[in-house]
Parts: sequence; structure tokens; C-alpha cells
Amino acid sequence: MLKVLVVDDDQALRLSVRSALESTKKFSVEEAFDGINALEKVKAAPANTRAFDIVILDVDMPRLNGIGALKAIKEHDPGIIVLMLTAHATVEVAVQSVREGAYNFLSKPISSEDLINLIDKAITAHTLISTLAASSPVFVDEGRKIIGNTSQMQKVFNVIHKLAKVDTPVLIRGASGTGKELVAKAIHFNSARKDEKFVAINCSAIPENLFESELFGHEKGSFTGASERKIGKFQFAEGGTLFLDEVGDMPPQMQVKILRVLQEKLFMPVGSNREISTNVRIIAATNRPLEEMMKDGRFREDLYYRLNVVPIYLPQLNDRKDDIEVLVHIFIRKFNTIHNKKVTGVSKEAAAVLKRYNWPGNIRELENVIEHAFVLETTNSVTLGSLPEAVLEAVGVNLVESMEQLQSQSVSLKKSAQSFSGDEIDVEGDLDIDSNLEDDDSSDSVDEDISIAIPNNGPLDFNAQKEEFEKQFIIKALKTFKGRINQTAIHANIPKKTLLRKIEKYGIVAKEYAEPKN
Ligand SMILES: Nc1ncnc2c1ncn2[C@@H]1O[C@H](COP(=O)(O)OP(=O)(O)OP(=O)(O)O)[C@@H](O)[C@H]1O
Ligand SMILES: [Mg+2]
Repeated sequence: MLKVLVVDDDQALRLSVRSALESTKKFSVEEAFDGINALEKVKAAPANTRAFDIVILDVDMPRLNGIGALKAIKEHDPGIIVLMLTAHATVEVAVQSVREGAYNFLSKPISSEDLINLIDKAITAHTLISTLAASSPVFVDEGRKIIGNTSQMQKVFNVIHKLAKVDTPVLIRGASGTGKELVAKAIHFNSARKDEKFVAINCSAIPENLFESELFGHEKGSFTGASERKIGKFQFAEGGTLFLDEVGDMPPQMQVKILRVLQEKLFMPVGSNREISTNVRIIAATNRPLEEMMKDGRFREDLYYRLNVVPIYLPQLNDRKDDIEVLVHIFIRKFNTIHNKKVTGVSKEAAAVLKRYNWPGNIRELENVIEHAFVLETTNSVTLGSLPEAVLEAVGVNLVESMEQLQSQSVSLKKSAQSFSGDEIDVEGDLDIDSNLEDDDSSDSVDEDISIAIPNNGPLDFNAQKEEFEKQFIIKALKTFKGRINQTAIHANIPKKTLLRKIEKYGIVAKEYAEPKN
């Protein structure tokens, strides 16, 4: 007998749910009147036992609301199945619930039949995944790996592993660029189907009138333009996995047909009267609010439940910033190979910007930013100067302003250096803002605008800023004087010895700025 806790501040509702459940003789039911009371009861179980298998949680409750209780319950024991139930369903709350680990979200009033149906599904999903052992790294095709050290991603890996071992449909949710396709591949390439095809189809890119033929194929002459018989993606993927990307954009009449394939494993090509049986696993993905779309009839509820056997929700990069460093590292390796470069890392300032930015385009955007830097970067590490302006701007780094600030700092330092005798200044190495102070007397101003950047509200680390400035300055000067060391030293007012030392220090290759020989 499964133990269920019904949590609601409305006694009448608790009673009606209780009697619906008890009438099946499958459940033993207890009640709690709010979130705090629910937690007390959940936690009352002796160590290593579970007081409840399933908790049905109301959302609006005094003291501790449903979302708060959900979080606390999942923290206490992630294995408890939680279903949310509310009279005032909003999409935000629904999405948040699923994200926090609720199995599903129901609007009141709900019929006892629907409720029991849903509990059955939740239990199936739950036993499916809880009987399988968890293990860690997930390899995608060709040795590619999904990266993520944060606890959010570790949870995702667990689910991927479990889903790879069963053959149910999968629905992957997550914002753009969070890795939905990568996860779909990981499930396929870790599954028994791994030696068969992984076929992806983007539902938002297929014209509505061609959808059916694209998926199921067509007979010759079945419609204008069908000059040959053609097999569809289902036959193409036979034995393997079909990835329905952007499934939320699938036209309603196709949703019915896909549902039928999921239920009966049969389909009919356009213009044919012969049913074809299929053995294909469906993995679907979307970043659309399916719960909202179901409400106004744009997405079929029955298809949703068919696909959403075990929910898998990919976190935004902004919610797992600790993964940025390792992702950047992986992308640097990747682009070193592609662009034949030897980038070894990221400057401190650039790393701070990457960490502060909020990544609306998620991992895809991070990957693009690193590739952008590879194209622009002339040294062996990714520096502020090679990050896209939009990213710098978003975190409050202003290129021109920073430059002006730095120049005025430099001028005032020079002045103070000249007006004091050497041993009176507190020169802790850091006043060595640019080594041309060493034997510089007649410094005319720098002739060009030098676009370097300092984060206005970033880490105020003078040494780091200074080094970044020096490096960018030298690169700019070398560019201006076509990589010629002597010319650069004279015109940019840097003692040659200092210039050579700095060039070596920052791994700059002067030859790269030489005029190409024709
Ligand atoms: N955890 C990860 N580790 C390494 N690379 C990742 C990870 N997640 C995503 N990527 C990379 O980021 C890019 C975007 O991933 P993917 O295409 O799977 O995202 P998506 O959610 O399908 O995006 P969209 O909604 O825009 O289609 C890909 O190049 C992918 O390889
Ligand atoms: Mg995608």
C-alpha cells in the first residue's frame, strides 16, 4: 500500500482527495493542514525510512506555501513524489514547481479519476528511474561529453543515465541554448539503440503541409510535387531514436498522429493505405510553455502526458555559474583544434566578465563568445579586448571610458613620480604602471585611440588591470608599427629592453603584426 500525504488548508478538499484515493484500496492516506505541518509529518519518519511515497501539495497555504514545502521536502528526500494542486494555476508557478522537482501540476477542481490516473503515472515513472543505479559522466557521440560539475547538472546526468536504460518517450524542457539536443543525443548514445540512427527533426522549420510526408513519407503522386515515393523520418530512424525538436511548434493535426504512433507503433505514409509498424524511440524537446499551451488548446494534453513520462528540465547557465569555467576550458580546447591556435586560458579580467554576464543565450552563447574571442585574439589567452562589445556593455565595461581613466591615472602617476624623490614614494611594484617611466623623460602623448577595457565595477585589482593595459597597449603599438620592434620602441616611447621583456611576458608574437609580403 502506498502512503500518501494530502496537504491543503481546505479541509473539505483534503477529505475529497482522501476518499477518492482510499476507494481504490491502493493508498493509505494522511492529511496535513499547511506546509509546516506537512514537513513535520514527512520528517517524522525514522532514519532510512520514508513516511510517505507521495505528497499532494496545495500551493496557497498559510505559514509555508506549497513551493516552499516542495523545496524542503525534495531537500529532505528527493525520492518522494510530489504533485502540486491549486485553484489558481499560473504558468510561472507550474514551471517553478516542475523545476523544483514536482512530478506534475494540477488545477482544481480535478476529478478523482484524473487524480488516480496521474498518481499511477507518477508511480510508473518513479519506479522506472528509482530501480536503476545512478552513475556519472555522460558521453555523447564521438567522445563528446556533457559538461557540468554543479549539483543541478549532476541531477540531470542522473536522469539521463536512467532514461538511457529504459525505452520510454522523453520530453526535455529548457531555455534556448541550454543543451537540449546534446542531452537527447546523450540519452540515445548511452542507450541500447546507440548503434542505430539518431535522427533530428526541427518541428518549427517544416511547413505545415509537408509535415506528414516528412515524418511518415509518401507514395509517388500522392500530392502535387510528389514525383517519387519517399520514406519519412520514422522509417529512416527505424530501430533508433527520433528527436522531435521544438515539439511545441508541431501543428495540432500532427500532434494527433504522433500520439497514435506512440500508442500503437503504427503509421501510414501519405497516399498509402498500408500501415507500417515502427520501432523508434521518441525524444522531444521544447522551450515553449506547454502547460499554458494546453490550456488554450494549442498543445494536446494526451500527447503531453505520453511524452512527459519522466520530466527532465535543463537549468539556465545563469543558475549554475560555477560551470562556466569548465565549459570555457572545454571550448578553448575545441577551438584550438578547429582554428589551429594555442590559446592557453582566459585573463583574470575577462574571466570576471564571463562570470558576471547573465548569459540569456546560455551555453550556445558562451560557446559563440569564446569562438568570437578566438577570431580576434592575437595573444595566447582570451582577454577583455576580444570579448564582444555587447557582453562588456552588459556588465558595465565601457571601452572608451576605461581607456581615458587609465590614461589619466598614468599621467598623474608620472607627475607624482617626477615631483618626489624616489625613496619617498610608496613604490610597491605597483606604481610601475608602465615601464617606460623607468627612463622616460620627454613623453609625448600616445597618438592613437587604444581600445582597451577595464570593468568599471569589476574587481579593482590594480596589478591585473595594469597588466591587461600593458598587453593591449603593446599589441596596439605593434600593430601600428607593423611589428617592427625598434620603431615601436621609439614611437610608442617604450625602452626597447622593456618592450622585449613585456613581449615575452605576455606571449605576444610581434611577427604576426608584420606587413604581409606580396
Ligand atoms: N553541458 C554542456 N556541455 C558542453 N557543451 C554543451 C553543454 N550544453 C550545451 N552545450 C553546447 O551548447 C550548444 C547548444 O546546445 P544545444 O544545441 O543542445 O542547445 P538547445 O537547448 O537545443 O538550444 P536551442 O533551444 O537553441 O535549440 C551546443 O554546441 C552544445 O554542444
Ligand atoms: Mg536545439
